[in-house]
Amino acid sequence: MSGAASQVQGDLDRLLPILDAALTRPFCHGEAVRLGEAARYSLEAGGKRVRPVLCMLACEAVGGSFEAALPGALALEYVHTYSLIHDDLPAMDDDDLRRGRPTNHMVFGEGHAILAGDALLTEAFHVLAAADLDPVKRAEALTLLAESAGWRGMAGGQALDLEGETLTTYDLDHLRLIHRLKTGALLRASLEIGAVLGGAVPAERAALRAYGEAIGLAFQIQDDILDATATDAVLGKRAGKDVGRSKITYPSLLGLEGARKALNEATETALCHLASLPIQNSLAAWAQYLAQRAK
Ligand code: IPE
Ligand code: IPE
Ligand code: MG
Ligand code: MG
Ligand code: MG
Repeated sequence: MSGAASQVQGDLDRLLPILDAALTRPFCHGEAVRLGEAARYSLEAGGKRVRPVLCMLACEAVGGSFEAALPGALALEYVHTYSLIHDDLPAMDDDDLRRGRPTNHMVFGEGHAILAGDALLTEAFHVLAAADLDPVKRAEALTLLAESAGWRGMAGGQALDLEGETLTTYDLDHLRLIHRLKTGALLRASLEIGAVLGGAVPAERAALRAYGEAIGLAFQIQDDILDATATDAVLGKRAGKDVGRSKITYPSLLGLEGARKALNEATETALCHLASLPIQNSLAAWAQYLAQRAK
């Protein structure tokens, strides 16, 4: 195993048991039993947990304990999981496989899948609002979450992604805008919320925000590359869908080699922004791992 891979594995071994134990807890008790089941179904299917782990690592990178970032980490995975459930709906990407399982709406029906997304999004704000946090940090984290999930972020990017299916021409700036909003915003917020909860000074927060911005772009470029090159079995979701739906992607505009070059440039940019941080090892390893990931 390379140095970066073993660092990433070490972080996952350390952080995932705590994260996973807390993740499904809010959805275990309540009157709307089947809705709770639908939310747990998508959370328990796994996923790489990139956003919550990066949030906790950003907190550590500025000298905080990862536990201090746990409410933020949970909130980010709730928003992300909701975005995937809605992304898979027939009205959006119309997918039947996610995280190695039939998609939420295939099992629970479209109505419950929409509501499971609503419940996850709302729980994200609840977990942060109800946490025992310094009030200023809590308000900043909530603001960052709202900006990144809403129409200035993920939801806005998803709308541009859908509108892009009918565009006949587009340029690199428009492609970058879609990726920055639909995927980059939440990844950038993962780092910045971790920074806030860890008590970062302004320069550290700015560095983590810039690292997150670059990682976010790199992440969606690699997602586009994997859609074009990997298999359903490895990805746990349908491969080869982007061409069929005429999606705006890096490989469709720049070809696979051009997309790989853009991925490497974004990763290098991310690494440069770590230079000023007190602790850099983990986040450097994660940037490398995310650029080379196979799923
Ligand atoms: C997939 O995200 C959707 C994108 C934003 C590209 P992930 O690749 O992080 O999905 P999981 O959480 O591992 O399933
Ligand atoms: C989705 O992008 C980004 C989200 C905000 C969910 P994709 O549509 O490419 O994600 P996958 O490939 O279905 O995971
Ligand atoms: Mg999509
Ligand atoms: Mg999709
Ligand atoms: Mg994709």
